Amino acid sequence: MTADADNTPPPDFVAVAQASDLAPGQMTFVAVERERIVLANVDGAFYALRDVCGHRNAPLSKGRLDGCVIECPLHFAQFDIRTGKLIDGPISADVPAYEVRVEAGTVYLRR
Ligand code: FES
Repeated sequence: MTADADNTPPPDFVAVAQASDLAPGQMTFVAVERERIVLANVDGAFYALRDVCGHRNAPLSKGRLDGCVIECPLHFAQFDIRTGKLIDGPISADVPAYEVRVEAGTVYLRR
């Protein structure tokens, strides 16, 4: 039997990482079409937000990830990594979230 899954990316999605490269509790940034995106692994589920805090444009990927809460490194605004919703901080704007899929060990973001 020839088994292997085809590695065709889902339509409108772009491969950004191997799931095995990002352990639970870790985050990193990736660039997609010149845009910075923070990618996080929360207990094996992957989430992605624009890597720019709406307050003074700090890179959220340089902040802290605590469970589902990502904290801006500059003035400590906090967002829900799953949705980009603002939890607390000196701004009122959410951060755009990206749809993420993991297939055959590869992490994909919707463009
Ligand atoms: S730049 Fe993120 S809270 Fe100020």
